[in-house]
Amino acid sequence: MNVVIMGPPGAGKGTQAKRLADRFGFLHLSPGDLLRQAVKDGTELGAKAKTYMDSGRLVPDRLIIELIGNRIREAQPDRRVVFDGFPRTLPQADALGVMLADLGQGLDAAVNVVLPDEEAIRRLTGRRVCRKCGANYHLAFKAPAKEGLCDLCGGPLYQRTDDSEATAKARFEVYRRETEPLIGYYGTRKLVQEVDGRGDVEEVSRRLEQALGLPG
Ligand code: AP5
Repeated sequence: MNVVIMGPPGAGKGTQAKRLADRFGFLHLSPGDLLRQAVKDGTELGAKAKTYMDSGRLVPDRLIIELIGNRIREAQPDRRVVFDGFPRTLPQADALGVMLADLGQGLDAAVNVVLPDEEAIRRLTGRRVCRKCGANYHLAFKAPAKEGLCDLCGGPLYQRTDDSEATAKARFEVYRRETEPLIGYYGTRKLVQEVDGRGDVEEVSRRLEQALGLPG
């Protein structure tokens, strides 16, 4: 089963994709996470991606398609995959179709997580991430037990550079222009499942799992 999770910045794509990985064994593929790791590791890809990410712009399609293509080809053929934040442009969507077809597979669903902008901005600006293990927190909705420290590994929490209010707003504009058209692209292929992103993480998970027909 191959699933794409779409939605604006802060809609909860990463949180929900991680839950699908933990609960149902999906391979979680997130270009955002892979690029942040590349920046941290100081690789050539990280250096190329950083300026785009810091300003809220999309990293060029060629780099992203290569990054995800390599991961798909390395995955076990029978593994369920959840794509989080990919595709984000029409050329990426076409490329994903070709990559899956080459493996004799297809896409089973494109979940669109719907959330009002004000709520998404609140989630982004309050987000904190563990520098060591990458775990996600939120100052109001999921605060760590000890301020500034990760509950899981004790690592320091930081705010993503692209989560400032100004850059978050720029990411929304990019989303509307480049990524929202994919709802129509997958709509014509009868793959879109709309999921209400409001409410707590468990509530959204229940809706999403139901939409995908996964056992509750
Ligand atoms: P990426 O990391 O993918 O950022 P994004 O799509 O903007 O998504 P976010 O990670 O900000 O939000 P999310 O929807 O995953 O929400 P989350 O679950 O974290 O991409 C970053 C950059 O990389 C891009 O700008 C671009 O430069 C580049 N890039 C990535 N993919 C690319 C591609 N395909 N092509 C080109 N460039 C690409 O939740 C947010 C917060 O809310 C967290 O604090 C969380 O704890 C909290 N939260 C989640 N759910 C709930 C809930 N139900 N209730 C309360 N709080 C919640």
